Amino acid sequence: MTILRSATDPRWVEVALSDLDATLADHAHCEKKAVATAVKLVADHPDRPGLVRTLARLAQEELQHFLAMITEVERRGRTLPPDQGDPYVQQLLKLVRSGAGRLVDQLLVGAFIEARSCERMRLLGERLPDERLRELYRRLAQSEAGHETLFVDLAVEVGAEAAGGKGEAAVRARLDELAEAEAAIAAALPLLPRMH
Ligand SMILES: [Fe+2]
Ligand SMILES: [Fe+2]
Repeated sequence: MTILRSATDPRWVEVALSDLDATLADHAHCEKKAVATAVKLVADHPDRPGLVRTLARLAQEELQHFLAMITEVERRGRTLPPDQGDPYVQQLLKLVRSGAGRLVDQLLVGAFIEARSCERMRLLGERLPDERLRELYRRLAQSEAGHETLFVDLAVEVGAEAAGGKGEAAVRARLDELAEAEAAIAAALPLLPRMH
């Protein structure tokens, strides 16, 4: 069960496959940023041992994904181009509240990035030209699906503490709001050979 409210435009996969070098390189950058985000959350919340351990393990997995992706880039005789930034993620981050809801929002935004990435990796896992790459993408998609759940669970845990019992319902309500916003952001972005 995904938290996404919309399916990716089916034309996206054609665009992504039409410039596979660009898509693979962008994907490598996504994995690198997933590592950085997890490490930053660990650095910002040393007083939450459960979160620290879970996100440290996540960072380790994302680093393995990054290594797998740079291996694919190198196999194709390429080097990583500069990171072009990610307007999808930038727009999601603008929705993060300041103050008490900040960490919950950061974790929920993390869940949506994982969910959308997972959905698209699954599409690539069905459509890529060779079986080795299809298998890699199926494996990555499965891992990102686990990360989606991990971020939602962490958000619920953090939110539940915050409002003594009523916290979980508030987190689920916020998840619904962000789900609508995420679907609108994804639908408005141009279809490009990148993950988002
Ligand atoms: Fe990943
Ligand atoms: Fe992930």
